[in-house]
Amino acid sequence: MKGVVLAGGLGTRLYPLTRITNKHVLPVYDRPMIYYPIQCIINAAITDIMVVTGGAGAGEVRRLLGNGEEFGLDHLHYAQQEGKGGVAEALGLARDFAGTDRVLVVLGDNIIEKNIRRAVGEFSAQPEGARILLKEVDDPRRFGVARFDGDSLVGIEEKPAQPPSNYAVIGIYMYDDHVWDILPGLVPSARGELEITDVNNAYIKGGKMACSFLDGWWTDAGTFGSLHRASCLVEQHGANKIDDN
Ligand code: DAU
Repeated sequence: MKGVVLAGGLGTRLYPLTRITNKHVLPVYDRPMIYYPIQCIINAAITDIMVVTGGAGAGEVRRLLGNGEEFGLDHLHYAQQEGKGGVAEALGLARDFAGTDRVLVVLGDNIIEKNIRRAVGEFSAQPEGARILLKEVDDPRRFGVARFDGDSLVGIEEKPAQPPSNYAVIGIYMYDDHVWDILPGLVPSARGELEITDVNNAYIKGGKMACSFLDGWWTDAGTFGSLHRASCLVEQHGANKIDDN
């Protein structure tokens, strides 16, 4: 399996912090934001990693990470997204890198307390399809939100005014190579982006989506409130712990 960190987009919700600086190099407590998703992938025992970057100061991300020596890697792959065509557009740039391998995709502003080794193991045991991670939250309107029928996941709604549950779809996704067949069929959403939620709904419709529930805290860091909260959570509880699930 290969790892992909999506760190493109323009980070406009953090202007003026991100007008000349890439969002993913901003500090979250004691390290740059992008260190967390990279460590999350490495903790899942995946070392072949591409970083898709873009927006203001995209070169800063490369200068910061280099070949990933600080993470014990010998090489990091990079791709460049122009503009903010959406998470699913950014993922499309990793197609040649992934080849026919499965991919673990982590959004560059998502941070978790623990690790996803169990979920990745369950995904590896799946014959095909995809797997997402869900987390119960107080403010589901900010996220993709799971809709259930009984225990079955039947759909995901992106930033719904009336959330169908309190379970957010966190920004960690696992896909087989069917994902590359789904991407070309996507159309831009009302916010003008190719949505990862549409990719996930395509897997759900095809009966090929599994889900796991995340243990420990999770946050994004793409708004002033969540960026601040992320630093506080890391300071108080630590992040990317590998000693428990
Ligand atoms: O954080 C989890 C949420 O992330 C999910 O619950 C949503 O379903 C999903 O759509 C996404 O929502 P956001 O609207 O919060 O995503 P945002 O635009 O903040 O982008 C998150 C990261 O994705 C960002 O740090 C870098 C990457 N990205 C985003 C865009 C728009 C790209 O690489 N390229 C892009 O064009």
